[in-house]
Amino acid sequence: MKDLLKAPFMVEMIRTVTNMYDHGWDERNGGNVSLMLSEAEVREYLNPDHPVRTIPTGFSAPELDGACFLVTGTGKYFKNVQYAPEINLGIVRLRDQGTQADLLWGFEDGGRFTSEFPAHMMSHVARLKADPENRVVMHCHPANLLAMTYVHSLDEREFTRTLWQMCTECIVVFPDGVNVLPWMLCGTNEIGEATADKMKTARLVVWSQHGIYGAGKDLDETFGLIETAEKAAEIYMKIAHLPRVNTITDEEMHLLEQRFGVRAREGYLS
Ligand code: 13P
Ligand code: ZN
Repeated sequence: MKDLLKAPFMVEMIRTVTNMYDHGWDERNGGNVSLMLSEAEVREYLNPDHPVRTIPTGFSAPELDGACFLVTGTGKYFKNVQYAPEINLGIVRLRDQGTQADLLWGFEDGGRFTSEFPAHMMSHVARLKADPENRVVMHCHPANLLAMTYVHSLDEREFTRTLWQMCTECIVVFPDGVNVLPWMLCGTNEIGEATADKMKTARLVVWSQHGIYGAGKDLDETFGLIETAEKAAEIYMKIAHLPRVNTITDEEMHLLEQRFGVRAREGYLS
């Protein structure tokens, strides 16, 4: 067996959550990340047929039966992951219609996966239907996106258009826009179902007054997606109280669509 702590997916996960912490997106235990692994990938490092223990998930996700995930633990601080990955991270394999998760490695202090596991798993199901290459769901609390949900309309078209107008490349990075949920109780199956429903049409879902979810094919891409939206929100929060003299026009957005070969969400540009 190879050394799991040297697995590229493990190294990348540790680097990513450390970077998220360094960006100020994950105070205390804020935020959670799940990365889907193939069973073949997992078998290089451990035997998935000998689980350490089994953790009930509290929901059903038959589409994910047999699927393996490297996931952050509930109550764990991203700043600590690099020093004790075997406590702060876990690898699980789902079974019995996704109602049970066999712990294959990690959570060595008796811990369990993030309280947002329903939102993560349900979002994986939704994104895999939209893009079979999706592997990552990432949640964090970036300050400017969060601030924006206090002062900006939560209408998805308006919210998206504002972000697109804040940096030229936003429409290229997230042409499908940003979907928005109103404030909801976190850690529940209900917010999980609502998030997954929003994930059907966009890779970014804002949780008002809480944070954001992003999805993508790898950790780098998903980090970059949230980073871009957060940068746009930062610019919005710098200028929201000032008279707007210039902007990026819809005509210019159409030029970006052509130049970069992307299509903006239907009906979002005039
Ligand atoms: P966990 O510590 O359970 O991952 O929760 C953090 C969080 O951000 C809840 O939304
Ligand atoms: Zn959160």
